Amino acid sequence: MNWKLCELLKIKYPIIQGAMAWISTAELAAAVSNAGGLGIIAGGNAPAEIIKKEIEKIKKLTDQPYGINVMLLSPYVDEIMELVISEKVPVITTGAGNPGKYMKELKKIGTKVIPVVPSVALAKRIEKAGADAVIVEGTEAGGHIGELTTIALVPQVVDAVNIPVVAAGGIADGRGMLAAFCLGAEGVQIGTRFVCSTECTVHEKYKEKILKAKDRDTVVTGRNTGHPVRIIKNKLSKEFERLEKTGASIEKIEKLGAGKLRIAAVNGDIENGSIMSGQIAGLIKDIKSCKEIIEEMMNHMTKTYESMNGICK
Ligand SMILES: Cc1cc2nc3c(=O)[nH]c(=O)nc-3n(C[C@H](O)[C@H](O)[C@H](O)COP(=O)(O)O)c2cc1C
Repeated sequence: MNWKLCELLKIKYPIIQGAMAWISTAELAAAVSNAGGLGIIAGGNAPAEIIKKEIEKIKKLTDQPYGINVMLLSPYVDEIMELVISEKVPVITTGAGNPGKYMKELKKIGTKVIPVVPSVALAKRIEKAGADAVIVEGTEAGGHIGELTTIALVPQVVDAVNIPVVAAGGIADGRGMLAAFCLGAEGVQIGTRFVCSTECTVHEKYKEKILKAKDRDTVVTGRNTGHPVRIIKNKLSKEFERLEKTGASIEKIEKLGAGKLRIAAVNGDIENGSIMSGQIAGLIKDIKSCKEIIEEMMNHMTKTYESMNGICK
């Protein structure tokens, strides 16, 4: 099949692996890119020298296109953008705002710019700023989230912009993927499913926690700080709940969350760490290679499409 998004990004399948701070390192991103999707290295709040090493690593692991996720609120954003430009990174996704001020330089070197947005208004602004496509992320997703669901938000953005829309949040199999295409998306971005891949270097206990999760096992912490984050319930989430209920200050709540993804993802502290995960965790039951995950998803989507005839009598 000729997917328009694949033409734009020079990839085989319209699947982007979502950036995941401390988790989507060069190893995972390269495995996804080698399997025909687009692997993304998470920039998070890391300084440029760390990301430079990841770029060097991914170039050794794959000759396929890859991306870097640039967090626009990072204190190192300017040096990361300089690095992206000097390394001629094929694709960047951006989080937390509008990358407009960097667009001219990125366009000059041919980097494709795909911001992640939680609303129609921001999607329109980034289209105006020159973005090549937009990732529309619903509240089902893992990590930092917006308010609207994928199923409500994706078609509204599709109607509002003329650039390709990539749906994110709550997609982990061919049914979810087909649903995204029915809503008008031209690709999907997937995070939680790729955590449970053989190539993902996250701590094994983190993977186990996702495999064991049921449908209602994620909660949103930090709503009153203005930076809500979806994580799996544990001792940390209970402490967030307690602080929020007792009217603790925003500073105190933000302090509780600081550095907690790292201790879960790297050290495997699944009680005191932040186990960011999407609501779709309940559907994930096994660890497979990225190639198997992607190929299974594509086949499942085709089978689901073919079986749809069977639902009308
Ligand atoms: C553990 C984890 C960490 C994440 N970290 C980031 C991040 O650093 N930057 C970002 O733009 N999105 C981040 N996300 C969101 C993903 O890139 C992706 O959009 C999301 O996971 C899609 O929803 P899903 O989890 O339902 O597949 C993260 C998601 C997870 C699960």
